Amino acid sequence: MKHDRVHFGADYNPEQWSPEVWREDIRLMREAGVTIVTFGVFSWGLVEPEPGVYDFGWLDEVMDLLGDAGIEVSLATGTASPPAWLSRLHPETLPVTRDGVRLSPGSRQHYCPSSPVYREAAVNLAVQLAKRYGGHPALAIWHVGNEYGCHIQECYCEVSAADFRTWLRERYGDLDALNAAWSTTFWSQRVADWADVLPPRATPTLRNPAQDLDYRRFSSDALLACYRAEREVLQQLTPDVPITTNIMGMWEPVADYASWAADFDVVALDIYPEPKDPGAHIDAAFFHDQMRSLGGGRPYLMMETATSAISYRPPNRPKRDGLNRLWSHQAVARGADAVMYFQWRASAGGAEKFHSAIVSHGGADNRIFREVAGLGAELAALSGIAGSRVRADVAIVHDYANWWALELDARPGELKVPERVRAHYAPLWRENVTVDVVTPEADLSAYKLVVVPNLYLCTDAAADNLRGYVEGGGHLLMSFFSGIVDECDRIRLGGYPGAFRELLGLQVEEFWPLSEGESVGLTSGGSADLWADHVVPEGAEVLAAYTGGPLAGSPAITRHAFGLGTATYLGTRPDETAMRELVRDALRLAEVEPVLQGVPDGVEAVRRGTHLFLLNYGDRPVSVAGVELAPHDVVVLAGS
Ligand code: GAL
Ligand code: ZN
Repeated sequence: MKHDRVHFGADYNPEQWSPEVWREDIRLMREAGVTIVTFGVFSWGLVEPEPGVYDFGWLDEVMDLLGDAGIEVSLATGTASPPAWLSRLHPETLPVTRDGVRLSPGSRQHYCPSSPVYREAAVNLAVQLAKRYGGHPALAIWHVGNEYGCHIQECYCEVSAADFRTWLRERYGDLDALNAAWSTTFWSQRVADWADVLPPRATPTLRNPAQDLDYRRFSSDALLACYRAEREVLQQLTPDVPITTNIMGMWEPVADYASWAADFDVVALDIYPEPKDPGAHIDAAFFHDQMRSLGGGRPYLMMETATSAISYRPPNRPKRDGLNRLWSHQAVARGADAVMYFQWRASAGGAEKFHSAIVSHGGADNRIFREVAGLGAELAALSGIAGSRVRADVAIVHDYANWWALELDARPGELKVPERVRAHYAPLWRENVTVDVVTPEADLSAYKLVVVPNLYLCTDAAADNLRGYVEGGGHLLMSFFSGIVDECDRIRLGGYPGAFRELLGLQVEEFWPLSEGESVGLTSGGSADLWADHVVPEGAEVLAAYTGGPLAGSPAITRHAFGLGTATYLGTRPDETAMRELVRDALRLAEVEPVLQGVPDGVEAVRRGTHLFLLNYGDRPVSVAGVELAPHDVVVLAGS
């Protein structure tokens, strides 16, 4: 894959069209400035109509057409939607839900991630494609599978149960260790035989949380193993071709992407921000930052987004004038070296026929195509930015095991990770401070400020890491219900928050989750809701106390000088203004500068390499640093 430009393109599904349309497609692709297409994502059924029988004719032809037109190909291994014969001959490859329902073919991703039959069939297809197209001049990158875990994150069949036991044996060694990890003395859950170890299937009431948590870990690993099986053969057959799979920027802990990252030659993101959501661009900024961070700061690919409306969140609103351009530039600003859409040509039939595309049902003489083509030309002119980096002084800690654990049943209060991450990320975004998204065990030494939203579960290594960061002079901002359990969801005994009591210089005696609609005042101004920790300082200074509610007079926000740094603790959820003030205060303390001073609300300033991006999400024209921005406009200043 050439890294000399910002790639521009789409998912291309020519099998839905006749060869005359392919030729028209190529003509229009050139007109739109398309440089790459991701091709063959759902072609298994056509390429291998019977087991071991291949029809490459149409693929050959399209590969050549694309190659002749100078369009690079991200070639899919096509393994996300198994052909009808696989489930007919091997019904055990179909996934089973928690309630024991075996799902049927008829949509896509209908396979059990642990199925050796599925994995072998998928690897076979990847091998055939690699042998046939490994040397094709158009081949730029392998796109393995598609959105692993998008629909099937976990399978509860017998094959998965056996695979889970193998995974547990590797993790724990013997049953005594497993029993200890799962706290099975509670409710008589001790297992004395491996055969009694089961996936967390439907139960009469609350399930064992450690078992649930391990099943999430195991399922993430099972999906990763599917990807790795294909990756391995592709690496052998085409060592010079990079390999990736598209992961999802959405608020669902589908898989532990941080543990997948080492297996991506380049990270690829699918993201579908919601045009109806006025804060969509802030969430999108977070996902872009996450993707860049997963690749250790290297550029990533935005492999899928929509040109206009999507088709599964009715009412599916189109993107108004300029919005696609604005959101696409946001990706490039935050580190993407590709802007690609699902899909090139809107399907005439099938489940997603109302999803927008570059070429609509009415053809290319319309607003969407003109806007896309304009963007293609703009991105071609921006080629100098490819490969350059985005720098961040602040990190936000984000961890999938914590996400899974925090949302298990029977916690003191109901915390939703998306809301919790947003509450910490949005004020940073509003201050125009660029943020990396890191795991709790990551090297933090490069950051002036580390923000830790509700890290309920953490390993000893993570606790040591955060402590070491502050000791060495770092500034930490951590919020309530952090450091409570170990990686098996067992309480860290001896006073909350077991992992961070010394670092924060306090003890939390009790949790006082607040009821819906209940709020309490803060002496620092504003109010708070959702949660109130009963904090007893043990060296920490009190920054704010509650002025009402069950904990009136006791500390709500504290700061502890520890080693050469500071640890600020937030025992509650302040309102948006109070939270923004608190974040500003933390930024001042850590001496973090925004990308640009004096940026009006609703405008994002991001610096990538020597380019400064100014993006106006508002409905009004604004003037920033002497630059006029129309509503939904973006300006890129080079050499700044
Ligand atoms: C993605 C998927 C695409 C298409 C798109 C639009 O999740 O990878 O194949 O379905 O969404 O819904
Ligand atoms: Zn299964």
